[in-house]
Order: sequence, then C-alpha cells, then structure tokens
Amino acid sequence: MRFGVIGSAVVGQTLASGLKKHGYEVRIGSRSPAKLADYAKSSGILTGTFAEVAAWGEGLVLAVGGNVAEDALRDAGAASLKGKLVVDATNPIAKEPPEDGVVKYFTSPNESLMERLQRAFPDARFVKAFNSVGAALMVNPSFPGGRPTMFYCGNDAAAKATVATIIDQFGWDGADMGTATAARAIEPLAQLWCIPGFRDNQWTNHAFRLMRK
Ligand SMILES: NC(=O)c1ccc[n+]([C@@H]2O[C@H](COP(=O)([O-])OP(=O)(O)OC[C@H]3O[C@@H](n4cnc5c(N)ncnc54)[C@H](OP(=O)(O)O)[C@@H]3O)[C@@H](O)[C@H]2O)c1
Repeated sequence: MRFGVIGSAVVGQTLASGLKKHGYEVRIGSRSPAKLADYAKSSGILTGTFAEVAAWGEGLVLAVGGNVAEDALRDAGAASLKGKLVVDATNPIAKEPPEDGVVKYFTSPNESLMERLQRAFPDARFVKAFNSVGAALMVNPSFPGGRPTMFYCGNDAAAKATVATIIDQFGWDGADMGTATAARAIEPLAQLWCIPGFRDNQWTNHAFRLMRK
C-alpha cells in the first residue's frame, strides 16, 4: 500500500520512516518540500507538496499542527482524500502555554478534532492513532514490561483494520475504542502523556498500557 504523509516535522518523518521500514511505499509532503532535502537523502523517501503526496497515496497520514489540520487537508485537496484512509496523529493543542504541565486544547470535552475533520471531509476515512505517545517511541519502542497499548478509533472498519496491522507492525498492542466519537477520549491521552515531559523533562520513557483480565 502507498502512503502519502501530510506533515514534514518529527511525527511526519517518524511515521514515514516507520512505514518504509515495514515495507510500505511512502512519500512525505510539505508546503515547502525543499526543506525535506536532508531527510529525503538520508531516508530515501521522496517528497512533494501536500497535494502531490495526497494524490499519490492510497492511504494518508496526517501529521500537522491540530490548529492547521483542516488547512493542510484543504491544501491536500478534498478530491484526493475521497475514500482514503487518513491516519490522524494530530492533537488539538491550543496556542496558550501548558498549565502545571497540562497542555491546553482548543476543543471541549464532548467533541474532538478528528470528528471536526471527519465532518469537514466526509468522504475520507479517518482513524485516530499514534497521537498519544511522543515521536521517539512511535515505531517499535522497547519497554521491559512488553508492548504498550495504542488506542485507536474511527468510523470505517476496513480503514481501522489497516491501521491495526500497522500498529502491530510498529510493535504496539492495538485497542479499538470504536467510532470517531472515541477521539474525544483518545486525544486527551496526549495531555496526560505530556505531563511528565513538561514537569520533569521525561519525553522518551513512558507509554500507556491497558491491563486486561
Ligand atoms: N511531536 C510529537 O512527539 C507528537 C506526538 C504525538 C502527536 N503529535 C501531534 O502530531 C502533529 C504533528 O506534530 P509535529 O511535532 O510533527 O509537527 P508540528 O510542528 O505540529 O506540525 C508541522 C507541520 O504542520 C504544517 N503546517 C504548519 N502550519 C501550517 C498551515 N498554516 N497550513 C498547513 N500546514 C501547516 C507544517 O507544514 P510545512 O511542512 O509546510 O512546514 C508541517 O508539515 C501535531 O498535531 C501534534 O500534536 C506530536
């Protein structure tokens, strides 16, 4: 499967490299693809504009700031999103600084960014995933306690099945939380995950694990 990654920063590069590592064809996009020259050289991954990689991809990864996610998808082009899986790693982080280590969101508790995006682009098949851990741990992290849990959700079963495979390949136990509505609960996990980072500068040593019996 061919993935077009919309997002040129650490998350876009990490997920693009992870997909390539696991055998997917990948291109990565930016509004200014030239800024990806070094990454393209070291990774062997081709670059393009958001529109170019979105048109090329059979599936997409969204890895831009939450406040500009809709703009980036419009740049990508609604027609290029039609019917496609969009792995949504974004979080609705507000511009204000964190308070006591808690990042502020521009969404309220009974809504989510992914629901907004799904409404704005109804023909795309959004799946929330990879938003609740730092980029350094997204691909094949190693924890003494075993695989951590990646929570995911979305309205389309086939799209979620594709993401479940990627989650497994990336070394996580997937936990399907249901429809896009569950993004209201999954997006705030990133607020919780970031607290040790902002309070104690711990950005690379923790992830969530769902215990079951
Ligand atoms: N950093 C992490 O460890 C982490 C972990 C989990 C989830 N996340 C979430 O993942 C997303 C990406 O995070 P990040 O740290 O990799 O990068 P970021 O700095 O949040 O986003 C960078 C991307 O946003 C694009 N962008 C900025 N302004 C734009 C605009 N006005 N219109 C369209 N696109 C615009 C940039 O485009 P150009 O390429 O043109 O510059 C770039 O591709 C965020 O939503 C973040 O909350 C981050």
